[in-house]
Amino acid sequence: MKPRILTGDRPTDSQFHLGSYVGTLKNRLALQDTHETFIMLADLHALTTHAKDAKEIKNNIKGLMRNYLAIGLDPERVTFFVQSHIPALPQLALMLGMITSVSVLERQPALKEKIDQGNSLTYGLLGYPVLMAADILGPRANVVPVGKDQKAHVEFARDIAQKFNAMFGETLTIPEPLIGEGGTLVGIDGKQKMSKSLGNAIYLLEDAKSVRQKVMRMYTDPTRIHPTDPGHIEGNPVFTYHDLFNDNKEEVADLKKRYEQGTVSDVEVKEKLADALNAFLIPIAEGYERIAHKKDLVHDILAAGDKKAAVIFQDTLDAVKAAMGF
Ligand code: TRP
Repeated sequence: MKPRILTGDRPTDSQFHLGSYVGTLKNRLALQDTHETFIMLADLHALTTHAKDAKEIKNNIKGLMRNYLAIGLDPERVTFFVQSHIPALPQLALMLGMITSVSVLERQPALKEKIDQGNSLTYGLLGYPVLMAADILGPRANVVPVGKDQKAHVEFARDIAQKFNAMFGETLTIPEPLIGEGGTLVGIDGKQKMSKSLGNAIYLLEDAKSVRQKVMRMYTDPTRIHPTDPGHIEGNPVFTYHDLFNDNKEEVADLKKRYEQGTVSDVEVKEKLADALNAFLIPIAEGYERIAHKKDLVHDILAAGDKKAAVIFQDTLDAVKAAMGF
């Protein structure tokens, strides 16, 4: 039997950017062949910070689903489902919450970050890891592919499963985090990680002209004033992107050499990057075009996935209740 994967995204936006691709989507594409994959649209988790935008979530789910399909995640191999459509999921979270200590929740690194961003400390936000543990333990995932920033949450799920098993007997499957090797992609401003809220993102469905404009104003080596100045490659986002998205490795090596020598302009390096990015993004846009007119496609895929996931989660909830003598 193939090992099982559960992973998910919060539908707080209707699109993915290059940072999401590098951080997780690329990894998922590779894993769909070797693993039984479940991808969840975490609409309840979206509410932990976006409750006032609740009415947009449904549309965001549709957008993210179309992005998944456009990049080549295959509904024949992947089960897509919506978190709030699984009745046993919050029940499982409730049970796990009974053996979770508040001090552990208060110490989660992601919480401080979210509070610092201006979110209020709700019961839901504090309980984010408990809900996420239910997402992971419900389908008995063996492997959870996530970005680095989510590792602590997967470890929490691991710890709580171990604690449950120690208290009530072997019931829950212990999951392992799998961190994408792509790491965190810097934004086009070179300062932070790519994110929508920082306005430094290039989207997977960005049109070619806009990609070129964004690349042209990308942050690069600030010490380099003239094309004849020797430039720095290390930590230069333009070359980080070349390494990740330009398949022509010879061209990249040549540009790096000339950049360090001061025999290539930033404009040329950026033009070649825009070409490479567009070569990468055009097939995604074409994939999107192929599905965009299929009105019921996303609905039908999710209806089938919800149904399948609901049965699996219920089975785990039944086992949990039985272990507790309920
Ligand atoms: N917390 C994840 C994020 O913000 C989304 C998520 C929710 C998730 N439930 C999950 C990821 C379960 C992996 C497994 O990106």
